[in-house]
Amino acid sequence: MAARLFFALFPPAEAARELERWARQVAGETRGKPVRAAQIHLTLVFLGEADAGRAVHAARRVSGGAFELPLDSARYWKHNQIVWAGPARAPAALERLVADLQLELYRAEFILERRPFAAHVTLVRKAREPAALPPLPPISWSVSEMLLMQSQLARAGSAYAVRERFALS
Ligand code: 2AM
Repeated sequence: MAARLFFALFPPAEAARELERWARQVAGETRGKPVRAAQIHLTLVFLGEADAGRAVHAARRVSGGAFELPLDSARYWKHNQIVWAGPARAPAALERLVADLQLELYRAEFILERRPFAAHVTLVRKAREPAALPPLPPISWSVSEMLLMQSQLARAGSAYAVRERFALS
C-alpha cells in the first residue's frame, strides 16, 4: 500500500530535548510553531507516496558507517518560513550516505526530486524572520541508524511512524 514516506536521521532523546527547548524560545520570538522533540529529525531523502516494501529493499543495499553529526549552524529560510539547524559543513559520511541511498533508490526505479540535498533539521515552522537567532546548545549526535518513516496527516499536524530501521556501523 502506498504511504507518504521519507528516510531520516533522528537525534538521541537528550539532544532532541535540548533542541526542543531552543525551538520553543525561538518560536516565542518569531511567533512560529516549535517542532516537538519526538518529531525533530533530518530528512535524507523524501519519497512522498511510495511503496514501503520496495523502499526497504533498496535501502538494505546501502552500507553506510556510523558518524558524528555536528549541529553548529542555525538559519532562517524565508521561502518556507522555517528556522532550522544543521552542520556548517556536512560530514563526508552524511553526503556519502545520501548519495548511496539515492543511487539505490534510482536503481529501484524510484523517482526522486532533483533538488540538491540540504542537510537541515527543521525546528520552528511558520516563523517570522528573526532579527537574530540565539546560539544553539552544544549537541552530541552520534548517528548509528537511519529510519524509513511514514508521515500521516492528523488533525494536530503530521504524525510520524517508524516503518523500518537500518543500522549504520
Ligand atoms: P522540512 O522539515 O524542511 O519541511 C517530513 O515531512 C519530512 O520530509 C520533513 O523533514 C520535510 O522537510 C520533508 N519534506 C516534506 N516535503 C518534502 C518535499 N516535497 N521535498 C523534500 N522534503 C520534503
